Amino acid sequence: MSPVDGPAGAPWWRGAVVYQVYLRSFADADGDGSGDVRGLRSRLTYLRDLGVDALWINPWYPSPMVDGGYDVADYRSVDPRFGTLADAEALLDDAHRLGLRVLLDIVPNHTSDQHPWFRAAIAAGPGSAERRRYLFRPGRGPGGDEPPNDWQSVFGRSAWTRVVEPDGRPGEWYLHLFAAEQPDLDWTHPDVRADFEKTLRFWFDRGVDGFRIDVAHSLVKQEGLPDVGSGTAPELLTDAPAWPPGEHPHWDREEVHAVYREWRAVADSYREPRVFVAEAWVDGPERLARYVRPDELHSAFGFDFLVSPWRALALRRAVESTLLEHAAVGAPSTWVLSNHDTVRPVSRYAREQTDKPAFNLHHLAGRPADLARGRSRARAAALLMLALPGSAYLYQGDELGLPEVEDLPEDVLQDPEWTRSGHARRGRDGCRVPLPWTSGGPPYGFSPPGAAPPWLPQPPVWGELAVARQDGDPASTLELNRAALRLRRSHPALGDGTLRWLDAPDGVLAFARDPGFGCLVNVSDRSVPLPAGSRLLLASCPPDAGGRLPPDATAWLDTGERA
Ligand code: GLC
Repeated sequence: MSPVDGPAGAPWWRGAVVYQVYLRSFADADGDGSGDVRGLRSRLTYLRDLGVDALWINPWYPSPMVDGGYDVADYRSVDPRFGTLADAEALLDDAHRLGLRVLLDIVPNHTSDQHPWFRAAIAAGPGSAERRRYLFRPGRGPGGDEPPNDWQSVFGRSAWTRVVEPDGRPGEWYLHLFAAEQPDLDWTHPDVRADFEKTLRFWFDRGVDGFRIDVAHSLVKQEGLPDVGSGTAPELLTDAPAWPPGEHPHWDREEVHAVYREWRAVADSYREPRVFVAEAWVDGPERLARYVRPDELHSAFGFDFLVSPWRALALRRAVESTLLEHAAVGAPSTWVLSNHDTVRPVSRYAREQTDKPAFNLHHLAGRPADLARGRSRARAAALLMLALPGSAYLYQGDELGLPEVEDLPEDVLQDPEWTRSGHARRGRDGCRVPLPWTSGGPPYGFSPPGAAPPWLPQPPVWGELAVARQDGDPASTLELNRAALRLRRSHPALGDGTLRWLDAPDGVLAFARDPGFGCLVNVSDRSVPLPAGSRLLLASCPPDAGGRLPPDATAWLDTGERA
């Protein structure tokens, strides 16, 4: 059994807590203002001491960085801004020595427009074999001046861009569900399938423990590329509800599952089987669970939980349906409260909690924020998440309770969503601001002395939220997370398994996990008594003098029951 295997030899990933490293913003060792592999290596003991089991590192491959590295120019190398392949191998060694697994991020839907395949496709012209690895089509209308269909880019505007042919004339169009610099691959092409298999093996052979799969639900497009008909930009959530399940022309199509069956076979061919987690913004847990059937992927982010407002019924419904659908296929649920694409929980929960979406910054425009309340709720939500059966992902900086930086100056914004939306949506930079390690002013220990300024400016509040400031303060969000992760590791009821809902007053979620663990989440606006006969293990906010749990708080309890 390896140091991070679960109880009784259960596969480690079924109950793991995985820390998401947004490398560019984690720690900068070489002083260029941007995080790197050596910076991450230098902070690995912080992650070990935090108590996580594994890391997921956002793409570190050579990239023009039009979309923060999700525009990959070479899948089997490391961008010099992040380091070298040797640095990556040293990181894997160090992490493993500390008992931490490492997942990378694979981007199969699209490459960068600077990938050799796409450059060759542009140079080779219409009808060439090189173009068949992507989705090139003639335009519609007189002179082919109109895009081939009505599909919209997730970042805004048409999902098609017209190329200038080698003879200098305007020619074919190519599909890109994201930025124009991210051309979609054609997954019916055997080269595409073979090359990704090669990439998986390349990293698995170097000891990588698994992959997060970027937009896992988008790879396969309906033959003939018919119009979607909605005319609306889909953001990251699908516009699939308008379509019968599995029939949307480019989201969550049935054929994509064959790809993951092949990938599963690759992962299983290793002596220590490797794992996958899917990023699939599909229409509800039932569709999601299809990605984690026994011969497909191991896990998939449960985004229904992430997008749920801080309201008891909504949270319970998200948790219940996710657990139910995963149990039906024998997979553990995978919980997540945020990532590098979504507004930080502190800022999301600082708003009035309605059914209106609140996970993108533009959703929050004009909605007043109470950040203290948002922080209480985010702390409570973290304890809820870490008490649920299955595995959980923790996005860097959430362990510090960082808020979204909502007021970055416009001239520093880098997210392609900002430009492609015609400046209607500020995009996702506000959750990607470099971490504060020490207080005392920028770069807050992110870079060494004398370095270039961080790639995104850090706000003054970073000083009081810095790691060094929170370290050792029992009231801090960092220490709350450390305590929760410590307990989670040692408590036999936590991690993989099941839960039992308990009766609770309106606005309160209560569940038990065997043996002897109880969780009470007070989502109401009044204090509630802790159950008689239970002992408090940990709370996101201390109970009042009368032993009652305040609003927006979660308590972990020892119920004394032993199986
Ligand atoms: C995923 C990534 C996001 C990226 C997009 C396109 O949703 O998480 O950051 O922009 O895919 O690759």
